[in-house]
Parts: sequence; C-alpha cells; structure tokens
Amino acid sequence: MERQIVLSGIRATGKLHLGNYVGALKNFVELSRDEAKECFYFIANLHTLTTHTNPFELRASVKDIVRDFLACGLDPKVATIYAQSSVPEITELSWILSCIAPLNLLTIMPHFKEKRDKLNESGITENAGLLTYPILMAADILCVKSELVPVGDDQAPHVEFARELAKKFNDMFGELFPMPKFFGGAGLRLPGLDNRGKMSKSEASSVIYLDDSHDAVWKKLKVAITDPQRVKRRDPGNPDVCNIFTFHHALETPVDDIARITRECKSGEIGCIECKEILAKVVNDILRPINERREQIIGLGAGYIDEVMHDGGLRARKVIQQTVAEAKELVGVPCY
Ligand code: TRP
Repeated sequence: MERQIVLSGIRATGKLHLGNYVGALKNFVELSRDEAKECFYFIANLHTLTTHTNPFELRASVKDIVRDFLACGLDPKVATIYAQSSVPEITELSWILSCIAPLNLLTIMPHFKEKRDKLNESGITENAGLLTYPILMAADILCVKSELVPVGDDQAPHVEFARELAKKFNDMFGELFPMPKFFGGAGLRLPGLDNRGKMSKSEASSVIYLDDSHDAVWKKLKVAITDPQRVKRRDPGNPDVCNIFTFHHALETPVDDIARITRECKSGEIGCIECKEILAKVVNDILRPINERREQIIGLGAGYIDEVMHDGGLRARKVIQQTVAEAKELVGVPCY
C-alpha cells in the first residue's frame, strides 16, 4: 500500500504547552495512528536559530519536546521523530530551493514582517535567516515528498510558499515533488490565559505547560482573566467574551456542563472560581495521562531520548538523502 506522507515540525523554543497540544500534537498522534499514513515529525532546531542563540537552552528544549512528543502518545516505531540538525541534506536542498525562490515573496511573508518589526523595535537588525526561513521550511516539507502538512493557520502562508517552490522546481527541472497540502484538521488555536493573542511561551504566567502539576495549573487558572465587566460574584457574566469559556469549548468540557455554566454565569448563579474549578478538572484530565507516560519515559533512563532521536535521524536521513540526490541530479549539481 502506498501510504500518504505526512510531515510537521515544531520549533525548539521551550517546553510544550496546552496550546501546542490542542493545536498540533493531538492531531499528530491521531494521524500517526492511521495506517494509511506515514508520519514524519521533527524538531525544527535550525529554524530556532533565527530567534534563539543559547546553545544550552536549545539542546535542552529539543529533548524536552521529544519527551513531550512521546508523552502525548507518539510511538517512535510508528512515526519517524528526528531533529532537523540530524539531516544535513535538508539544508542542502534549502540552498537549491533558495536559487529559485522569488525574493519579493519572502519579504512580504507575515512571519518575517512580524519578527523583523519586533526586533527593530528593540534596536536589533533582523538576520538573513528570518528572511529565508520559509525556504528551509519548504525544504523540510519537500525532502520527504510530503503530501499533508498539519500545522496551525499561522503557518498556512509557509505551506503555500512550499507549494509554489515545488511547482516551480517540477516545471523547471522535471517532476520530483508532490504538491504538499496544508492540513488545519482539528487543530485549534488556544488563547493565552491573559487573552492577549495565542498561548505562547513568551508570557509564562499565561501558559499551561504539559508538565504542570495540579497545583501549578490551579495557581494560573485562579488568576486568569474572565469577563472583565464582571466584578462582583453576583454580577451577571457574559460567556461570549469570557476567555475561560473559550477554554471550555476548545478543551471539550462536557456539553451538559457547558450548557449549565453558560446559563448560571449569565444569571450570576455561578462564580468565576467555581467555573474555573470545572475547567481545572478538564485540564488535569488531559494532562494526567501525558504526565503518567512522561514518568514512564523518564524511567527508561537519560539515554532513551537520545536513542529515539538517533534512530529517527537515521531513518529520516535515508529517505531524505534519496530525494536530495534526485534533486541534485535534476538540477545538474550531482555529487561527483
Ligand atoms: N514554522 C513552523 C512553526 O513555527 C515550524 C516548522 C519548520 C514546520 N519547518 C516546518 C512546520 C515544516 C511544518 C512543516 O510552527
């Protein structure tokens, strides 16, 4: 059976959080359990270099993420899990693609503009890697000939860019790459607990990490923003503007509970703390099995994650070497 190739990556910028889980990992696990699919999931540690340059943190972050991948239920025997830096051929393909990539498309990428403006605000000049980021990402996607790319909506322009490069390459040099498709799937965008944009690692207090304890979860939820108009316990609330309700929906609090707390919030019968207690249970029900699995993995010893990454790197490299050799042949720059 020809299996459909699925590929996705996560940048190594710290521990994974609940937003990563509902937005990506849950999807990754589900796709990997479909026998008609072959999944490649990697840590984009070379992409991390565009914004983070602490070698110690970078190494630690890659391992944390791989551990979280496994804790969330990915089986390294089924899905190929690797670090981008284990496969030098990806960067080789990236160079070839950069020679057919239109510069003007890169300068208008939302990701580039956003990061550049942020850096410039603090008086820092953007690096060239930020500009060519989407080329490396296209290489990630095309080097395994992937057909499906499960990522958040914010990555859709990058997948579109990869499609354009695939088409251009095929037209110029011969059919090599299938057209990768963006797959939003069931991936959800979870806000931060402060309700200022999506949950992201830059605002520690607004993030629920996958390895947070019950206490840690409660400490953060307790002070999380609700309906800003609701000041006193008896004030009627508005679930439509309450961030906690966004979480109830995204994390799939049972519909009966949602119906009840919606009603009782509007009438002022239920207080925010009680509503948050219900949410805390839902969060902990998601985190518990993940944390149990993480404990088991830790029990396998410090070398286990290295082993998984080493094996995954070899497996990925075998496939990628083949594609990149084909690409080099087609372009006329073989290894002599
Ligand atoms: N840019 C992606 C992000 O920030 C990470 C990434 C790098 C990626 N290469 C990829 C995602 C290839 C999917 C496919 O989330």
